[in-house]
Amino acid sequence: MSRNILITGAAGFIGGTILSQLLERQDASTIFTVVRTDEQEQRISPLGVHVLRLDLTEEEAVTRAILDKDVDIVINTVSAVDPSYSLPLIAAVGVRAAKTGKAHSVYIHTSGATAFADKSDWTHGPVNDTDNVYKLVKETSTPYPVRQTDVAVVEQAEKHNVLAYIIVPGLVCTSTPLFTEPRGLSLTGADGRGTGQCNKISLQIPSMIRSAISSRVNHKFSENGRWPGIHVQDLGRLYVALLASIQHNTACPPSGEQGFIFGTGHSVSWWDVAEGLAPHLYRRGLVDGPRTELWASDQEASKGLLVPQVFIPIGWNSTAYGTFAREDQIPWKPEWTAERFTKSLGDEIQATIEAGSSAKTAATYAPAE
Ligand SMILES: NC(=O)c1ccc[n+]([C@@H]2O[C@H](COP(=O)([O-])OP(=O)(O)OC[C@H]3O[C@@H](n4cnc5c(N)ncnc54)[C@H](OP(=O)(O)O)[C@@H]3O)[C@@H](O)[C@H]2O)c1
Repeated sequence: MSRNILITGAAGFIGGTILSQLLERQDASTIFTVVRTDEQEQRISPLGVHVLRLDLTEEEAVTRAILDKDVDIVINTVSAVDPSYSLPLIAAVGVRAAKTGKAHSVYIHTSGATAFADKSDWTHGPVNDTDNVYKLVKETSTPYPVRQTDVAVVEQAEKHNVLAYIIVPGLVCTSTPLFTEPRGLSLTGADGRGTGQCNKISLQIPSMIRSAISSRVNHKFSENGRWPGIHVQDLGRLYVALLASIQHNTACPPSGEQGFIFGTGHSVSWWDVAEGLAPHLYRRGLVDGPRTELWASDQEASKGLLVPQVFIPIGWNSTAYGTFAREDQIPWKPEWTAERFTKSLGDEIQATIEAGSSAKTAATYAPAE
């Protein structure tokens, strides 16, 4: 069934990549994108999608746009930590469904793996997305903005009769295999950096790279925690696979309280990431030595990574959980392995350098102190 799909954060790393992959589908759906600046509009308009200049903090304008354009599926990639961006979108698609009497509206949220990290006081350990994730999140007593946003999304969707899905990306990797993959391996467009028109790089690993370059020292944290990992192209394919299941199956995959989906392709250790960057940085003359040193303190790391100190242990010095186990409902199989990911860290450096000072810092998705 063709639908009217709205993507927020279309100028961003994740939203831009999803958009590029949606455009590769043979599907008659109409795509609307949300951007904030002239430059973003100029870059995205030539793709042949409808571009809306909208700030998600303007609730009335958001509601009007959704009703005017008869949007029935929203993919929101703007913020995992602030429910004020999500709740008006959900209410508006709910109102639209009630007014028109058309098919159910769908809201797809982008959350974050820090909600399932030991240092954010996720106390339930390993978790699959076929478990009762919502109940476990609600039972987690320590308030944490990403978890609170996830719960608010589910409750708002229930209130407005909207099918809600919460995709939880792990540590998102940017790189291409161009520099490190053996000859003969496919270098098609499917394996790229972010393939959006604007921001093409991620947040956590580029922050580590920028910090190493500016201090000329590569750093790691005291604990060798493990995180779910995913390549941005695999992540884009997950959103597209979910959409296909929603659009083309008679029964949509379970949503709402059962709507959590872990965007996990593999598992990576933070030391493998930090130590994997070290030889590439050294060979390029970007750091003074080949060794990886321990951060002296969270305070130092906060200054180096340009992230509020409160986010340091949660975002880097932690173990996070989340396994994708919904193969029966969503036809998605990640293409990137942990080995391929660590082999391609040299290009993560290249991508970060190319993005230069225009790139955002990881502080953009850290909860406020
Ligand atoms: N990248 C990761 O590793 C990762 C992993 C897990 C979860 N996430 C979550 O996914 C979200 C997206 O990540 P990303 O890497 O794609 O970030 P990104 O590249 O910074 O993209 C976010 C987009 O949201 C837009 N935006 C921000 N505030 C807005 C507002 N008030 N109204 C309309 N648009 C607004 C930004 O617009 P401007 O370009 O105009 O600022 C930007 O284009 C993050 O916020 C994070 O919570 C990211």
